[in-house]
Amino acid sequence: MKISSKDWMFIALVVAVLVVIILISGEETTKKVPFDESHRPAYEIFKKTGSKSETEKGCDACHNDALQPLPKGHPPKNRCLFCHKMKQIAP
Ligand code: HEC
Ligand code: HEC
Repeated sequence: MKISSKDWMFIALVVAVLVVIILISGEETTKKVPFDESHRPAYEIFKKTGSKSETEKGCDACHNDALQPLPKGHPPKNRCLFCHKMKQIAP
């Protein structure tokens, strides 16, 4: 059977939907950033700047190989807050 370009569009759509579902379900199980003494400054930066990429710059100060190494097999770690959500805190 020959696969027409219309079929390819359908296949691409199905793949895209699956990828989104996998990404969303992965997100829900990933641990949130704890709201404790170590992470309070991060929550404060986020409250002030409203910027995730600004906030992430502080993570590396502790989560590096010397102090708080990430677990083995940890996924690429350049965007912490993309995967580890911050907790909802009362304003
Ligand atoms: C002052 C040091 C420090 C900074 C800065 C810091 N962390 Fe942590 N983090 C820790 C320590 C210590 C632990 C382990 C104990 C705990 O849960 O607080 C931890 C644990 C975690 C955990 C695992 C929580 C769990 O449930 O096991 C996540 C996720 C995390 N940090 C994410 C982040 C992210 C994202 C940032 C940047 C916004 C960040 N941390 C900045 C010290 C830090
Ligand atoms: C691509 C998604 C992704 C990114 C980006 C990411 N992580 Fe993770 N992280 C995970 C997953 C998945 C785990 C496995 C355990 C879990 O469910 O939290 C994990 C585990 C951890 C743990 C151990 C939690 C525990 O106690 O079991 C810490 C600490 C952590 N990450 C910190 C960070 C920091 C800091 C950054 C940024 C430098 C970062 N992560 C970026 C997905 C991510």
